Amino acid sequence: MNQLQFQEIQPENYDAAFKLQTTCHAFPWSQAVFVDCLTPPYFAWQLVDENDAVQGYYVGLLAAVEATLMDIGVAQSSRGQGLGRELVKHFLLECNKRQALDAWLEVRVSNKPAIALYHDMGFETIETRKNYYPLADGKEDALIMKIELGK
Ligand SMILES: CC(C)(COP(=O)(O)OP(=O)(O)OC[C@H]1O[C@@H](n2cnc3c(N)ncnc32)[C@H](O)[C@@H]1OP(=O)(O)O)[C@@H](O)C(=O)NCCC(=O)NCCS
Repeated sequence: MNQLQFQEIQPENYDAAFKLQTTCHAFPWSQAVFVDCLTPPYFAWQLVDENDAVQGYYVGLLAAVEATLMDIGVAQSSRGQGLGRELVKHFLLECNKRQALDAWLEVRVSNKPAIALYHDMGFETIETRKNYYPLADGKEDALIMKIELGK
């Protein structure tokens, strides 16, 4: 984390984070959807290294007192070094600043690294949503997870 810094993602500087997002998911968002997520009620931040390369990002949403972690990703070559944890921490701090009372997310049941990260950060599984995500061949369940904030 030493030489990494957080930058807010804005309509002027989203390109690298958008490209990273396309490498993080089998079914990435389109550019239009990503750009839509850069203005309130959404908030989005990226982690940039000393060479100005984006190594991670997340997108949050605030609706009244309820926040949602819409997406998070770390560059393949930078995984397993604590960046995901720093991104979730930053997201939770931003939620607290915005006076959210809780934060929610959805995750594929097969996504063991993400589920372990979220549990580690204090999220609890609330329910399983059947056949929620597309697969190349069929559908996959989602876990709905929540953390209470502001306590
Ligand atoms: C999920 C993701 C963001 C984690 O990022 P990361 O930088 O590798 O995670 P960290 O190094 O901060 O790991 C923090 C914790 O997450 C868990 N974790 C991370 N990678 C893991 C793995 N491969 N297997 C099991 N647990 C893992 C561990 O609990 C870890 O804590 P530890 O290091 O003390 O064991 C990353 O794997 C990613 O970008 N995946 C693709 C995009 C994605 O699936 N996003 C989630 C959408 S819901």
